Amino acid sequence: MPLVEKLILYSGKSPVRFHMPGHKGGRGVPKNLRLMMEKNLFRWDVTEIPGLDNWHDPEGAIEEAQRLLAELYGADRSYFLVNGSTSGVMAMLGAALEKGDEVLLPRNSHKAALMGIILTGAKPVYLKPQVDEELGVATGVPLSEWRKALEQHPDAKALFITNPTYQGFCPNLSGISSEAKARGMKVLVDEAHGPHLAFSKRLPSSAGECKVDVWVQSPHKMLCSLTQSAWLHLKGRDLDRERLRSYLSLLTSTSPSYILMASLDVARAVMETRGRYWVERGLELAERARRSINEKTPFYCVGREVRGRRGVYDVDLSRLMVNVSSAGYTGFFVEKVLRKRFHIYAEYADFSNVYFLLTGGNTRDDVAKLVRALKRFPARKKKIKSVCFPGDLPERAMDPGKAYFSPAEWIHLDAAFGRITSDAVVPYPPGVPLLYPGEVVEKQHIEVIREIQKAGGYCQGIKNGRIKVVKNG
Ligand SMILES: Cc1ncc(COP(=O)(O)O)c(C=O)c1O
Repeated sequence: MPLVEKLILYSGKSPVRFHMPGHKGGRGVPKNLRLMMEKNLFRWDVTEIPGLDNWHDPEGAIEEAQRLLAELYGADRSYFLVNGSTSGVMAMLGAALEKGDEVLLPRNSHKAALMGIILTGAKPVYLKPQVDEELGVATGVPLSEWRKALEQHPDAKALFITNPTYQGFCPNLSGISSEAKARGMKVLVDEAHGPHLAFSKRLPSSAGECKVDVWVQSPHKMLCSLTQSAWLHLKGRDLDRERLRSYLSLLTSTSPSYILMASLDVARAVMETRGRYWVERGLELAERARRSINEKTPFYCVGREVRGRRGVYDVDLSRLMVNVSSAGYTGFFVEKVLRKRFHIYAEYADFSNVYFLLTGGNTRDDVAKLVRALKRFPARKKKIKSVCFPGDLPERAMDPGKAYFSPAEWIHLDAAFGRITSDAVVPYPPGVPLLYPGEVVEKQHIEVIREIQKAGGYCQGIKNGRIKVVKNG
């Protein structure tokens, strides 16, 4: 049982968890609910049997649980999801768009959005996010750029926006959504990383407070439900509910897990009864860690000072973005040392930064261990330089869906000039797709890929120096 053996090894080392899920090994779930879930894992592992309601057509307990969830988030309707926010993102795009419809979205959207676009045959209009050169990451698209795009594409049917990004950067959601709704567009929000936002005044606005049609959240990331569970909320009548329902059904197993749905019910109950406490506790811990990292280690932990700078409207301070390149390290290196030497597990690292997620499931002891470990890294004289990204968006030769499903071949990067990509190429950092399916590879793209790889970065969509392109394209 190779996987089981790995899991035993991982959990046996008492890892310090700064990664998802937000329950942090169950510690963040109130004890009575945790014990109930643990005791009944196998006994409750059922799917749609008579008397237990039916996810695909709920009328009983699932419907009631979803109603309570909608009430909590101020939605008109909410749905439990068992295939992550990924399925919610795809379903909302499916519900809002017909083949050929234009949709505006930042180029650094999650890949589920690309899949939704491919599924619907919609035409994406990408907005370029700003890049913070010092941190080496993409940030967000300012309101002024959204305005320009709204004016240039008055017939676009929808706008897709992420709040917050993986890094915790938030857009001016209220401003952007109001302008888009005034023009009759549907506003779809990927709030996978933001189910906690509504529970603290110290956090950026959540989609539920803005003029949006639909928003999806992953409570497994920042709250205490089990991995892969998510939920989706709907407001108003502008989005076709039947179409949304039908897309959700299309993307969901005919045997949805009642364990995952029970964990969603638990997460909702926890947030209803002590949501503020849970979120404030995570925030307090993050603030404590941020202060100590900035005072006692050579690294820079990003804080509220980035608000209003380079595409950042607001920032979710319950996650830590620790810039290590300014002290001469790559994020990949620091993440590895923390994991191997200290059993401290970060959420993620890129070339310049390491990310840590803190929730009500973390403790002061976790923070103390992290700060102690980071203090062990001496500052280095030589700074790490971030890699530059080409200024213009690439030429599009084919619709993403057509390119994605066309016969394809893997060819060496040297031979890729002028060819049409059949899959996305996403260098980390900054995590913004350099090329989307259907776009033409230019010399500058090849150079950037090489530069990133030379510097030790990772490039999704490139394997052994090869790229996937449309055959005969
Ligand atoms: C911005 C964003 N949206 C959507 C998703 C997909 O969420 P899930 O993992 O719940 O499917 C992710 C996953 O990390 C994400 O970062």
